[in-house]
Amino acid sequence: MSHWQELEQKYFMRTFERLPVTLVRGKGARVWDEDGREYLDFVAGWAVNSLGHCHPVTTEAVTEQVHILLQTSNQFYTIPQVQLAELLVQNSCLDKVFLCNSGAEANEGAVKLARRYGKHHLNGAFEVITATGSFHGRTLGMVAATGQPKFQELYVPLPSGFVNIEYNNIEVIRAATSPQTCAVMLEPVQGEGGVNLPDDNYLAAVRAWCDQQGILLILDEIQTGIGRMGTLFAYEQYGVEPDIMTLAKGLASGIPIGAILAKESAAVFTPGEHGSTFGGNPVACAASYATVKFVIENDIPGNARKVGEYLMAGLKDLSQKHQAITDVRGRGLLSAIEFSQDIAQAVVMACLERGLLVNKLKPNALRFMPPLTIGNAEVDEALGILDKALTSIKD
Ligand SMILES: Cc1ncc(COP(=O)(O)O)c(C=O)c1O
Repeated sequence: MSHWQELEQKYFMRTFERLPVTLVRGKGARVWDEDGREYLDFVAGWAVNSLGHCHPVTTEAVTEQVHILLQTSNQFYTIPQVQLAELLVQNSCLDKVFLCNSGAEANEGAVKLARRYGKHHLNGAFEVITATGSFHGRTLGMVAATGQPKFQELYVPLPSGFVNIEYNNIEVIRAATSPQTCAVMLEPVQGEGGVNLPDDNYLAAVRAWCDQQGILLILDEIQTGIGRMGTLFAYEQYGVEPDIMTLAKGLASGIPIGAILAKESAAVFTPGEHGSTFGGNPVACAASYATVKFVIENDIPGNARKVGEYLMAGLKDLSQKHQAITDVRGRGLLSAIEFSQDIAQAVVMACLERGLLVNKLKPNALRFMPPLTIGNAEVDEALGILDKALTSIKD
């Protein structure tokens, strides 16, 4: 264990299962540890480094902004947040933006907005229907929204007002809807919960049901948004438009930021009803504006789609060779492989030894979420290492 790892053990709360590597530098799809070892990064900060590590566009925007204005209160107008809001609105189906600092905070705000809508338009309806297998964040409210007992059990009693129902089943949403329901909140594709893709018509059916009931559809695009699925937003691929959408992760390629976007009709907050000290921070907004502009102008979603297909094909080939792989799934540059046994940790370690970072999704599954800027060469390299890692485990 290195000096820094020993200090971490001494001073840090034990919330993360860390791998025995201290990362000190990153460039593009590569990171380096304190001993100078290089790794190909297919974790990308849990789907954050959309343009890779320290992309010049993001880094230069941050560098420029830190010399101009670091922070003001939201009592005043600042230019970077308005530029970012305009860019997000002009490139999505939503009309209004609220900026915050993380995914969980964006989702909390989205639920507050839906409850505010319920007070305005639905006789005080406050309940939000969410899916089992979802992941919406670590605050108490979002733990209640997250339909996974393992995140909930330790923290009961949880805030009320959430109903967890089976994902990818419109009938259970219909059955769970009551006069108290103000919204349905879903990830278009479940990320943390397993890279679970819905049936093609599921989201359209949910949208139609929400319209029929006059309730809101909130899409949590914190993991799927900003090009990861092969389009700027995942909703584009399912022929639906949400009333509210949340973003974070890849929004600034490594700088913390979150956003709530809403249709004009759902943007019912009035001054004083929601807020944030750091939300819309000029540095984060400058980083995000530069990142999103680059993503759009350089068709980074198109690259994610093409390279994602190449990765999926390669993973399917690997599954022919390695019987341990029982499923390959994903879209764009968000994919997963599942094993017949609980070997994910062993595969992660075997990849690590060979210079590849991958994410253990479950004891029997891995997730791949590399920077959206990678090419087929990096995919070939990753597949080569994964192949060797799987072979080493069999032996
Ligand atoms: C779909 C989704 N929503 C919300 C979150 C929470 O985001 P944060 O960790 O920034 O609070 C995550 C994080 O993994 C996520 O994948």
